[in-house]
Amino acid sequence: MRSLTIEEKKFRFATPTENSGHKISNGILEAIGQTPIVKFNRYLDSKQVQLSVKLESANPGGSAKDRPAFQMIQQALAQGEITKDSTIVESSSGNMGIGLAQVCRYHGLKLICVVDPNAQKQNVKIIKALGARIEMVTEPLEGDFLAARMARVCQLLETIPGSFWPNQYANCQNPKAHELGTIREIDEALAGEIDYLFVATSSTGTAQGCRDYLRTHGRKTQVVAVDAQGSVLFGGKPGMRKIPGLGAGREPRLARNQNFDHLVRVTDIDCVVGCHRAAQCEAVLIGGSAGGVLESVRSMQYDLSGKSCVAILHDSGTRYLDTVFNEEWVSTSLGASAEEITQRINGPALSTERIPS
Ligand SMILES: Cc1ncc(COP(=O)(O)O)c(C=O)c1O
Repeated sequence: MRSLTIEEKKFRFATPTENSGHKISNGILEAIGQTPIVKFNRYLDSKQVQLSVKLESANPGGSAKDRPAFQMIQQALAQGEITKDSTIVESSSGNMGIGLAQVCRYHGLKLICVVDPNAQKQNVKIIKALGARIEMVTEPLEGDFLAARMARVCQLLETIPGSFWPNQYANCQNPKAHELGTIREIDEALAGEIDYLFVATSSTGTAQGCRDYLRTHGRKTQVVAVDAQGSVLFGGKPGMRKIPGLGAGREPRLARNQNFDHLVRVTDIDCVVGCHRAAQCEAVLIGGSAGGVLESVRSMQYDLSGKSCVAILHDSGTRYLDTVFNEEWVSTSLGASAEEITQRINGPALSTERIPS
């Protein structure tokens, strides 16, 4: 067998620090965070804006939600609110469900995820594969599946001794996770030089945690909250929304009286366009809310000349292959043909709504 050249040996036997700057994590939960920050030099039409993105899909559970899932459970363990015998109950079939399934499995905690028939099937499979029990509500309560899921959560909490509800929509450990991790990593990497930060909102945990860190550290960064048209956050009017993870149908307790420097509302089609444009220009598959965030930056790009902008991209496009990246779904669910989407990808950013806040 041929012996290795010095260069090959250097590569193969380098310590992780010499090789990549990454440490070896002691268990999967230690691998949460330190996600890549990547310059997107091609996405915008204007070359006068420096755009960097934080790829939260690189978390081991595949999204930014790994961080609050870990923080909420870790804090509850530390405070003695849960023990090894507790059952965790949460209403989620999305990224939070996956993040919680990961952290609960690692700690050997039982998890029940309450979902409804609209849940994304692939997410439910992932949650199950990580050992959680799925509790499906089949009938809406007064026409509302969210109300039915909440009722089931309350019923489970009442009947299961030692049960615990993390409740990301009211738990201050949710924003804390982003204050301690997401934005600190961005701020350190860019040495505090961030003029604008673009963040998708639902519970508003990510945006709040980032804003609070930036204010505490005296940064002048303008925080742009990106919400969905049809979301009731920040006084919005309710309407149909098809992109999961972006916006809210009911105002979460965490979101009450929250203010950000700017507010942009995107349509479902903006999200689809952003995802396809990111794949086309940057060779990165991003999730629906991330597409909306990038289109928000593009809609403001001529006001951002000379500015350093960062966009937090919550998850990966691999979970949206049957929706955002499926022509038929886009056509039947959003009423947009493949030609219209192509025109939008190659044309100017159009319909994002900017609301002074
Ligand atoms: C894909 C995606 N984007 C954005 C968000 C919004 O994050 P936050 O709840 O911190 O406002 C979520 C939250 O679930 C999400 O799953």
